[in-house]
Amino acid sequence: MKKILGMIEAELKSAFTACGYEEKFGKAVLSNRPDLCEYQCNGAMAAAKAYKKKPIDIAGDVVAKLREGHMFSLCDAVMPGFINLKLDGGFVAEYLNQMAADQRLGLETQEKPLTIIVDYGGANVAKPLHVGHLRSAVIGESIKRMGRALGHNMIGDVHLGDWGLQMGLIIEELRDRKPELPYFDESFTGAYPKEAPFTISELEDIYPTASKKAKFKADEAREQGMSEEEIAAKEAASKAFAERAHLATRKLQEGYPPYTAIWNHIMNVSKADLKKNYGNLSVSFDLWKGESDAQKYIPDLIQNLIDQGLAYESQGALVVDIGEPADTKELPPCIVRKSDGAALYATSDLGTIIEREKDFHPDAYIYIADKRQELHFTQVFRVAKKAGFVAPDQSMSFLGFGTMNGKDGKPFKTRDGGVMRLEHLIADIDEAVYQRIMENRTVSEEEAKETAKTVGLAALKYGDLSNQAAKDYIFDIDRFISFEGNTGPYILYTIVRIKSILSKYRDQQGSTESLAILPAASEAEKDLMLEIAKYNDVLETAFAEKAPHKICQYIYDLSNDFNRFYHDTKILSEEDKKQQASWIGLITLAKDVLSACIQVLGFEAPERM
Ligand code: ARG
Repeated sequence: MKKILGMIEAELKSAFTACGYEEKFGKAVLSNRPDLCEYQCNGAMAAAKAYKKKPIDIAGDVVAKLREGHMFSLCDAVMPGFINLKLDGGFVAEYLNQMAADQRLGLETQEKPLTIIVDYGGANVAKPLHVGHLRSAVIGESIKRMGRALGHNMIGDVHLGDWGLQMGLIIEELRDRKPELPYFDESFTGAYPKEAPFTISELEDIYPTASKKAKFKADEAREQGMSEEEIAAKEAASKAFAERAHLATRKLQEGYPPYTAIWNHIMNVSKADLKKNYGNLSVSFDLWKGESDAQKYIPDLIQNLIDQGLAYESQGALVVDIGEPADTKELPPCIVRKSDGAALYATSDLGTIIEREKDFHPDAYIYIADKRQELHFTQVFRVAKKAGFVAPDQSMSFLGFGTMNGKDGKPFKTRDGGVMRLEHLIADIDEAVYQRIMENRTVSEEEAKETAKTVGLAALKYGDLSNQAAKDYIFDIDRFISFEGNTGPYILYTIVRIKSILSKYRDQQGSTESLAILPAASEAEKDLMLEIAKYNDVLETAFAEKAPHKICQYIYDLSNDFNRFYHDTKILSEEDKKQQASWIGLITLAKDVLSACIQVLGFEAPERM
């Protein structure tokens, strides 16, 4: 379906042309004086300059023309030359009836759906998911779902960090813990065990222990009163361990079979756990690829960069310049190979692009990561374009997000200052919501537990998504789980409320007759109707701008409009059955639009709460 604003604009344009003015002046915007009108056109002011006339006269001409049509119940020319508009109630009702009859609620189908890779999640294998990864998963999932709802071919890839130093650290820590394993016996020639030599909880302990071992902090030890002698010994041990880890990483990257076998175990155990964790967030990926998958493309791509004369040696490393004339500050070149030949983050991303081109040749790429990675992505995109790995018209964009902070304004931590694990964070929210639900004690404990999970997820995701992605935000559990205000639970509460009215109506009526929506009978009803009608516009804009917060703002406004309307309107006791059926049709549509929006945001509503 066409967007309402577009329809208004078409009407305005033909009125301007009919009066002898250029159509470009017929622009419609939402009214900034909602007390006077719903929409307005300010084009007469601009046209006045072009035609050397008074704006009010031009507005007057156009208004006279518009009044011949049926789209507006009000169209006025007001000083100095505004055109104030209110849509005809019948027109709006007809629009909503069409939306209600459409499975896609008025979203246009794509003539040419785009294939778009969404690179998000970005978990690092064997390191527990922490809140830093939360944002990427939550925002990325929503962007992917938006595109999908609009009819594009969206491919989500988790792009695991699975090829770095953490692997060498784990291998060496495992050697220290279980030296008897065949992976560490160079004379071993048999087949390696199928069973992993660790469980997920061991693995979760192995990495942090190893990482600490490799980074002995002399200053801290000194503060704690450790003797210089002991410090020197520990420092040496730490250095030796780190060297072993580097070596093991290198050997793994060169394909040394025992380490490859360990790596496979790490991948299997860790991926299973990641899938569970992402699942709890209602986040799912089409592809479970990672940095390791990119490695086989790297030698060729580096050769290609050299052959094209793009890559050159600089201080032992191989680099590509990425500066462009329009840059306001100088950007450092992209390092594609370090002096020791080791794999690099940027090179992995370039290799991944080669693979994605081969497998999908996407129209566009969207990457979602911490905004501190902006330079990295600028470098990767520019090298990819310069080298022709992607065509000039393929869009590559980076959506960088801010930090989730605690109430103290510093990056969110556990109570004792540690890094908060995602699953603990989720458990905390669920528990808080559970307590709130149990305050009223209208449902069984079991149902309350289930509902708390659904509501908790909405609280968490809405709390994140309702902020502009690039901004930092404060994780405030009490505010996020509140049933009032701009929160996930408030939206769910509104949906649940509508569901309950609908079920009462069904009990009362016994049948579902046709529910034709009639023109609004009150101002609150008209507001609700106009808000519903914006759905296709909001979703398209939010996707084009990669701005889930615009959907949040929309459903918050829509919920407020519904609650205001419902407050004024006695739906269930209405005697005029046609009127009642119309309202039921209207709130059904409101519920469907709200539900479609939260589905896109990545959460759902419970039956009751
Ligand atoms: N694993 C990375 C991290 O934890 C994020 C990956 C982002 N995606 C990418 N293609 N580089 O920082």
